[in-house]
Amino acid sequence: MSSQGMNVLKNLVSQKLSSIESKGRLRRLRPLHPRSGDWLDLTHNDYLSFRYDKDFQSTAHKASAEWPMGAGASRLLGGEHLVYEKLEAAFSCWKNCESSLYFASGYAANEALMTVLALPEAEFFSDSLNHASLIDGLRLARLDKGQKHIFPHNDVEALRDKLSKSQSSLKIVVTESLFSMDGDEAPLIELSALCREFKALLIVDEAHALGVYGKRGSGLIEARGLDHDEIISINPCGKAMAAAGAFISGPAWLRQYLINTGRSFIYSTGASPWIAAGMLATLPLIEAATDRRQKLFAMSERLRHDLQDLGFSIGTSSTHIIPLLLGSEEKSLHVEQELLGRHILARAIRPPTVPEGECRLRLSLHAGLDHLEPLLKALKEIG
Ligand SMILES: Cc1ncc(COP(=O)(O)O)c(C=O)c1O
Repeated sequence: MSSQGMNVLKNLVSQKLSSIESKGRLRRLRPLHPRSGDWLDLTHNDYLSFRYDKDFQSTAHKASAEWPMGAGASRLLGGEHLVYEKLEAAFSCWKNCESSLYFASGYAANEALMTVLALPEAEFFSDSLNHASLIDGLRLARLDKGQKHIFPHNDVEALRDKLSKSQSSLKIVVTESLFSMDGDEAPLIELSALCREFKALLIVDEAHALGVYGKRGSGLIEARGLDHDEIISINPCGKAMAAAGAFISGPAWLRQYLINTGRSFIYSTGASPWIAAGMLATLPLIEAATDRRQKLFAMSERLRHDLQDLGFSIGTSSTHIIPLLLGSEEKSLHVEQELLGRHILARAIRPPTVPEGECRLRLSLHAGLDHLEPLLKALKEIG
């Protein structure tokens, strides 16, 4: 029998859930569709298609065999395994930066980084479309009102205006390098020049670019030829890296500072040593995946053109993430369902993930796709 407290909570929660449901926005976990050949899956972020690659998987499995699945404790308490140190060194070498610290997730990494940088001297300048983990990190940092400025998405001039008005000795600009709902790139070269001009620090979340951009695949910082010594990057590994966890990469003193003050690092069990060992072994495969990257770029470019030729709006996308901007929730859900009926998986993205009236279908391409004609044919039919 449930307690009275539980009943009170149940009633309050049911009201909340009913309110979400009445707007048609109740989220449900949906089982994966069978991975059979006739399904086209455009929902996940495994951009290089390594998750089910046999060589990639066996390399990871073999490497992880000698390590325990769980860290056993926080890395500071007794959960420090040699594999983390090796992985962080290999990742730093690949990323061409001095040091890296490996977190159990990108969410935890962003929370830690935003909070430890929230010194009394700091003022943050954050892109309006930054990921929830960056937003929540800044919320958790309990900044004073004047310490947080949101600039319109990718608007370098608006940012310049805000920076020029700031008296802070520690100005911190925060952006993603590739935005996950719009598929557009941040103007990293301009942002970096602006940061130099205003003696500001640039922080870049590479979640959707890591593995995909750059000759070595280490992301858009590499691809745009920027100096890693001037940038702190967050590198979540749940997407093209086909793994999990995230690195914060930058100078060695930052690593030391995070180990000492990053609460989501200190008070959380270390990331799985299995995954750390798997990633250490598969890093060379990611680096060498030039063919997959090229295939992905060519396919993305072709699809962006074809969709525009069909009259669809894809906004500012210039990458492998292509939103079909449909406006209303009804339209987005309708197209999602119609595609599902034709064995094509693509998710309707609705508020609160995107603003009201900006609903869309998010098409996330990956190197394992062979042909996109069924998608184009279906969209033509659906109109
Ligand atoms: C830009 C960005 N940063 C951070 C994260 C969080 O990473 P993780 O999934 O490892 O928590 C995501 C994830 O989904 C993301 O898109």
